[in-house]
Amino acid sequence: MARHFVTDLDLSADEQAQVLELALKMKANPEEYRTALSGKILGMIFAKNSTRTRVSFEAGIIQLGGQGIFLPSSSSQLGRGEPPSDTGQVLSRYLDFIMIRTFDNREVRELAEASSVPVINGLDDDYHPCQVLADLMTIKEKKGDLKGLQLVYIGDGNNMAHSLMLGGAMAGMNVRIICPEGYRPKEGIVSSAQELGEKHGCTIEVTGDLEAVAGADVVYTDVWASMGQEDESAKRIKAFAGYQVDVDMMNKAKVDAIFLHCLPAHRGEEVHADVIDGRWSVVFDEAENRMHAQKALMVFLSQNS
Ligand code: CP
Ligand code: NVA
Repeated sequence: MARHFVTDLDLSADEQAQVLELALKMKANPEEYRTALSGKILGMIFAKNSTRTRVSFEAGIIQLGGQGIFLPSSSSQLGRGEPPSDTGQVLSRYLDFIMIRTFDNREVRELAEASSVPVINGLDDDYHPCQVLADLMTIKEKKGDLKGLQLVYIGDGNNMAHSLMLGGAMAGMNVRIICPEGYRPKEGIVSSAQELGEKHGCTIEVTGDLEAVAGADVVYTDVWASMGQEDESAKRIKAFAGYQVDVDMMNKAKVDAIFLHCLPAHRGEEVHADVIDGRWSVVFDEAENRMHAQKALMVFLSQNS
């Protein structure tokens, strides 16, 4: 049976920790893994745009001795309505891994259910689990042990907020989401994360109080209008007034706080240029770590499938 990575919950807490350890080893010593996935082929389905996900997956599989095939939905039969279940059965006869970036999580799940090779979620409307592996890896590099740290996410209760709550809780990290009313993360995902938090000794909270950035070891934000929400951009800019991560906000966090953003960023909206380009920011190490974390994930999934 193939192991998939459809949501953050597809790895146990121990497995997530193993992938992070492997990612750090691979980053420190890439030569050792040059043939780890020799001859393996990764197909990458994209129904939404991407810079980091596409290039980090493709470069990653090449660095491990394999190859990637870019499959934009718009020019494949998926874009003309071929069911994900048929696509999964067909593609798994050619490929060793399938990565998909799309809208509805059900599509990723259906593809995975039909696929005999690992399916990896490269972002959907509700989850971005590969990003969170890279984020946790980056926080580990900068801060050491993840347990007991406080991450504060300010902005939209979106796919990033969801995956950060789930992945963070499994790592024993306290996660606080600060968002305006009407843009809160999904209740079901908040309660799953809170249950995980209880198990792993950390708290998962959602609040509208901007002062709750106090005590943050890590400050995180993401765009106010995600892919697919471009029409709501103007409305969202109004709704999120006051939620920009600026220097005043960073000064309320711990003195040694770091700033993360999954990118792409909109300077002057969710983040001020002085923060993302300033001393707190580790966003480019974070972007680099997408590649290391995903290399480790692919090796882990192939060894456990
Ligand atoms: N962070 C992220 O997933 O970036 P891309 O949209 O460029 O892939
Ligand atoms: N929330 C953003 C993340 C982009 C990497 C989006 O879904 O567009």
